[in-house]
Amino acid sequence: MSLDARALNLVTIEQPGSEKMLRKKADPVHFPLSKEDKDLIAAMKEKLLAIGGVGLAAPQVNYSRQIIVIYIAENAAALRDDAEPQPLHVLINARYTPLTKKHKINDFEGCFSVKNKAGKVPRYETIRLVYEDENGQRHDKVVHGFYARVVQHEIDHTEGLLIVDRLTADCIQGTPEQMMELRRSTLAPEKKALYDQIVTAQQIAASKE
Ligand code: NI
Repeated sequence: MSLDARALNLVTIEQPGSEKMLRKKADPVHFPLSKEDKDLIAAMKEKLLAIGGVGLAAPQVNYSRQIIVIYIAENAAALRDDAEPQPLHVLINARYTPLTKKHKINDFEGCFSVKNKAGKVPRYETIRLVYEDENGQRHDKVVHGFYARVVQHEIDHTEGLLIVDRLTADCIQGTPEQMMELRRSTLAPEKKALYDQIVTAQQIAASKE
């Protein structure tokens, strides 16, 4: 059976029955990759580009696999502090350990798996990231800033954790609409225009889903 991006449906915690997949630790992936895992990775890459996000983890499309795809486009990076564009790439069996234990930074995050809440999520600024790529090659590196934030968000998905678990009572939070408005209001005029472009593109993508 072939699997393309159209066959992948995003699941949310608000959907009855979907919380189980989103709330459990995903299964590890073995090498060499199976045909099923290769097909899933290809479909997840397509899906991430289609929805205009920066990251996607397999449980979000209802597969219990420790597979993450990340793509940080230039315009997404331009909106954030301490962010660099990242090509489309795959993290398998990824783990992280904080290198800045006391130092967490709160910044806006939303999630395709959480329809009703967004907010400024605390994340470690610098982490040690260990993962395998699609060829089974092990990577062990120190990453920081926005990329480290995205990695922590996506690894959380493979651990069964969501932004609602990370948003403590003292965090700024609200509906995605409220948080989008708040985030927009903090941006410089030239970044507002860029933000509007990205939001419009995501809304168009969502309407096609
Ligand atoms: Ni998410």
